[in-house]
Amino acid sequence: MKAIVYSKYGPPEVLQLKEVTKPTPRDDEVLIKVHAVSVNRSDWEGLRGKPLYARIGGLLRPRQQILGSDIAGRVEMAGRNISRFRPGDEVFGDILPRLGGFAEYVCAPENRLALKPAGMTFEEVAAIPQSAVIALQGIRDKGQVQPGQKVLINGAGGGAGAVAVQLAKIYGAEVTGVDNTDKLDFMRSIGADHVIDYTQEDFTKNGKQYDLILDIVAHRSVFAYKRALRSDGSYFLAGGSVATMLQILFLGPLIRGTTGKKVRILAVKPNPEDMVYVTELYEAGKVTPVIDKTYSLSEVPEAISYVGDGHAQGKVVITV
Ligand SMILES: NC(=O)c1ccc[n+]([C@@H]2O[C@H](COP(=O)([O-])OP(=O)(O)OC[C@H]3O[C@@H](n4cnc5c(N)ncnc54)[C@H](OP(=O)(O)O)[C@@H]3O)[C@@H](O)[C@H]2O)c1
Repeated sequence: MKAIVYSKYGPPEVLQLKEVTKPTPRDDEVLIKVHAVSVNRSDWEGLRGKPLYARIGGLLRPRQQILGSDIAGRVEMAGRNISRFRPGDEVFGDILPRLGGFAEYVCAPENRLALKPAGMTFEEVAAIPQSAVIALQGIRDKGQVQPGQKVLINGAGGGAGAVAVQLAKIYGAEVTGVDNTDKLDFMRSIGADHVIDYTQEDFTKNGKQYDLILDIVAHRSVFAYKRALRSDGSYFLAGGSVATMLQILFLGPLIRGTTGKKVRILAVKPNPEDMVYVTELYEAGKVTPVIDKTYSLSEVPEAISYVGDGHAQGKVVITV
C-alpha cells in the first residue's frame, strides 16, 4: 500500500510517499481502508519531535513511521475478537498514540471507533475525533460551562479551538477567542463574541478575567494564567510547552490552595461516545464542521506544513 513515511524527526521534507506492507489486524483490531484522515497539531509535533512529549516512546527516532491519527474509512477485515464491527462498516476514530493514518490502510482497535453517520462524509467525520473531543471534554465535562459565564479559548482559530468556541456558545457562555490576525474574522464567524489578536495583545495582561480558560497553545507562566482567572475560575491546558505543563503540575495545587483558582492540565480520554455526540450536534446543525482545505495523500507534507505554520482555519483533511 502507499503511505507517507518518515524515519527521523525534522521538517516536512523528511516525509516520503512510499510503498509499504499492508498491515494485518490483531485479534482485537479491524483493518480499515482509509478514505479520509485529518491533520492535527499533534502530527506537526510528532514530525518535529517537539515539544518533548512528542518523543514519548521514541527519544531519538520516531516510534511510529507513519503519522495520522484521526481516521475515517471502511472496515475491510475484522480480527477474531471483534464484536461491534463487520467488513463493509463505515467507521471513524482517533488512533493516537498508535497512529498510521496517512496510508491507504490502517489497523485500529475497536474501542477507538464509532460508526459513521450516513448523512456525513468521510472528510467531515475525520475532522472530529481529536479536536472535537478535546473541545467537548474541556468545555462540557471539565469546564462545566454555565450560561452567562465568560470563557476564553486560546488558539480558537485552530482544530480544537473552533469546536470549543461553538460548544461554549451552545452552553450559553460569552466567548473570547484568541488567535493570530488572519483568524479574527474566522473566529467571529463561528460565534466568538470577542476576539483577541495574540500578536497585538496579551490576554493575561489586559486586566480582564474569565470563569474558564481553555488553552490549546499554552506557553506562559502559571501566574499569568492565575491573573486572568476570576476568583473561582478554572484554567485547562490542552496543549503547549512542557515548561508550562511542569509549572502547572508543581504550582497548580499551591495556587488553588492559596486563591481557590484552579490551574490544571486537561488529560483527554479518547471516547467514541463523545465523537458520536459531536456528530449529532453537526447533524442537528448546532455545530458547523469547519474544514479549511483538503489535500491528497501525496500532499501530506504540504498539509502538515499548512497546519504547523498556523495557516489553517479549523481543520485540514487528507482525502485518500
Ligand atoms: N490534553 C490532551 O490530552 C491532548 C490530547 C490530544 C492532543 N492534545 C494536544 O492538543 C493540541 C490540539 O491542537 P489543534 O490540533 O487544535 O492545533 P491547531 O489546529 O494548530 O490550532 C492551534 C491554534 O493556535 C494558534 N496559536 C499558535 N500560537 C498561539 C498563541 N501564542 N496564542 C494564541 N493562539 C496561538 C495557531 O495559529 P498560529 O500558529 O497561526 O498562530 C492555531 O490557530 C495539540 O497540541 C495536541 O498535542 C492534547
